[in-house]
Amino acid sequence: MDRQSENEAADAAETPDFETVAPSVLIVGAGAAGARAAIELVDRGVDPESVLVIGKRSHGDAHTTWARGGINGALGTHDPEDGWAIHAADTLNEGHHVNDPAKVEAVTRRMPELLRELDDWGMPYSRTEDGDIDQRYFGAQSFRRTAFAGDHTGESILNTLVDKAQSLGIPHREDVFVSKLLTDGDDRVRGAVGYDMDDGEYLVFDADVVVLAAGGYTSIYHRHSSRDDENTGDGPALAYEAGAELMDMEFVQFHPTGMVGDRYGDDWDGRLVTEAVRGEGGRLYNAEGERFMERYSPGQMELDARDVVARAIAQEIAEGRGTEHGGVYLDISHRDRSFIEERLPRMYERFADLGVDMATEPVEVAPTAHYGMGGVVVDETGETRIDGLYAIGETMAGVHGANRLGGNSLAETLAFGEIAGADIADRLAAADDSRGGGVPSAAVERHLADLEALANSDGAHDPETLLNELRDVLWDHAGILRDEGGLEAGLDRLQTVRERAADLDVGPVDSRSFEFALDLGYALVAAEAILRGASERTESRGAHHRTDWPERDADWQRNVTVAVDSIGAMRLSTSRPGTPSDGVQAALDAGYELDYHQLE
Ligand code: FUM
Repeated sequence: MDRQSENEAADAAETPDFETVAPSVLIVGAGAAGARAAIELVDRGVDPESVLVIGKRSHGDAHTTWARGGINGALGTHDPEDGWAIHAADTLNEGHHVNDPAKVEAVTRRMPELLRELDDWGMPYSRTEDGDIDQRYFGAQSFRRTAFAGDHTGESILNTLVDKAQSLGIPHREDVFVSKLLTDGDDRVRGAVGYDMDDGEYLVFDADVVVLAAGGYTSIYHRHSSRDDENTGDGPALAYEAGAELMDMEFVQFHPTGMVGDRYGDDWDGRLVTEAVRGEGGRLYNAEGERFMERYSPGQMELDARDVVARAIAQEIAEGRGTEHGGVYLDISHRDRSFIEERLPRMYERFADLGVDMATEPVEVAPTAHYGMGGVVVDETGETRIDGLYAIGETMAGVHGANRLGGNSLAETLAFGEIAGADIADRLAAADDSRGGGVPSAAVERHLADLEALANSDGAHDPETLLNELRDVLWDHAGILRDEGGLEAGLDRLQTVRERAADLDVGPVDSRSFEFALDLGYALVAAEAILRGASERTESRGAHHRTDWPERDADWQRNVTVAVDSIGAMRLSTSRPGTPSDGVQAALDAGYELDYHQLE
């Protein structure tokens, strides 16, 4: 090798330039959970300048904005007999009793106060004539407890939280992609590595505490309600790769009413038609004009739990009673136009833009992957088994069990944002003044070298194409209905995606293909955990329906946990969830249930 080549090789091996940022607390994810955690920290005396919130998207445009229909809390606006313990009981019943009762209680107990606090911060709730926070019916809930702002609840909550965070001077940085968490040999988090998506500059975050509020994993399904570049499994995969455990990944919620791409265009395929349409009286019909939920759930009709309604729609379509575009009809035209415009303004506008008048005609819907009930194993404060690493919101597991109630995801973001923020504030107050041990520089160098090797790599496979292929694998093999043969075939197909993912054709660091390549890595982790968990769970429970094991099995009232074993493979184990408190058990024993016909 001549002198010039030697110098070039030495240069190539050098660590690339990077910017170091050193917040005490790094919050990854700029949705409601991350914002609420940041506010709690500062409310409890943490210096705002020592907190940094980062997100992949523009500030105020996180996935939270897509949660539309409402947020649950037992305010009892219309139904004074409601209470937090009944909210907890509904959550456990619809989670088929594999939720962590302590986490369910922590959320439901806090919600009435957290909803009022949000009101004090300026949340534009829809109101009753008396000016109270209005509440609507949502699926499988015994009472009207879903507070809302028209059908833009998530967006309004996030705007309220962002305004509050800005008034407290909490710094944020947008368009940042996190590619690795940093830990030391003692399983203690030390920060993270990522890059600025605008200019490709590498970023090293030297942080004592990292909060993953980075969403879930359902956009790794072919039809999904998220935007394509969010919920690709980054939160759970980052934690798993750092040594935390995942749990319940097989429980994937299919929202019954996603838009139908063949009718409204591919860009709209799978996007939500909010449950609020059914909560306000919307009815489902098949192509033969039959209100088919009378056959599947005469008591709760369109407002039965999401898994029940989604399976019913899927069955109607599979048995040839769907529309020519592959959906069923959702019709709220029996309500007045003014009612629809007031209660469902965004849906009304969206369909009007597509040439559909909801006041006179139905819309076409079909199930869409919407929410991952599984996620990272955390304790009662939101902390993982890695010291100083927290996971909250959709990134964490435990609250929703086998099937989530609509309106409980936004509730969880606020409650666990507050809980984790409070715990972190306490730990910072208890720590001495000196910062932690700093980032492990060898790990930083290795990871930056990996990123450099990935950038501009000239392999055979396009990352976006492989990501879409992975989405097909999950849709085909780990969808609404599953069986052993299909799950095994899914794992085989996933393996071929993994093999090709080792030979990618990728652009520079600030290119979309670089982002897709990293997303593909996350998606591979999440997909394998879903397929393995679904294969392990030889029963049907909530959103996990095995045609070869169609019944719920009491012995399977267990959580499936996934961890990295000593040779880097996935190791599965199971454990039993805890038991509810006496108050919640009493509410369970009382047998509350939604009476759908009150709505008719
Ligand atoms: O349908 C919806 O508005 C979704 C709400 C949720 O998933 O909580």
